Amino acid sequence: MRIAIINGPNLNLLGRREPEIYGKQSFEDFFETLKSKFPQEELVYFQSNHEGALIDKIQEEGLKGSAMVINAAAFSHTSQALADAITAVNALAVEVHISNVYKRESYRHHSYLSSVCKGCIIGLGLKGYELAIEFLLSNPK
Ligand code: DQA
Repeated sequence: MRIAIINGPNLNLLGRREPEIYGKQSFEDFFETLKSKFPQEELVYFQSNHEGALIDKIQEEGLKGSAMVINAAAFSHTSQALADAITAVNALAVEVHISNVYKRESYRHHSYLSSVCKGCIIGLGLKGYELAIEFLLSNPK
C-alpha cells in the first residue's frame, strides 16, 4: 500500500524544536525506523512549511489513490483549504498530532482536518504515525 506521510510547518525542526513537547528525535531519523517496521509498504514522506505545497501534495497523492497520514501542524487550526484538498481527492487520511493539543492553548483545540479524516491520533508522540499506518493497513477504504 502506498501511504504518504505529510507534515506541515515547523515539523522539519523536530528534535530541535521545543523538545519537551515534541521530543528529541528528528522526523528523518524516525522515518527510517518507520520504514523498517513496514518493509512491505510503500511509505513516502513529505514536509513543507508552505500551505500551497501541502495542498499540491495531498492532491497528487490522493489522485494516485495513496492513503495519507497528515500532521498539518499549525495549519490544522487555520486551513479550510487543506481540508478541502482532502475532500476533493476523496483521500483516506488519518490526522496525527504529536502533542496532546487538548492540554494546550484553546486555539489548538479545533482542527479543520478532523472532520474530513477517517480518525485522529492525538498526543501519543511519534508513535501516533505508526499507529495510523497500522490502522490504514487493517482498514482499506
Ligand atoms: C502539532 C500541534 C499543533 O498545534 C502545532 O502547531 C504543531 C504541531 C503536533 O503535532 O502536536 O506544529 O500538530
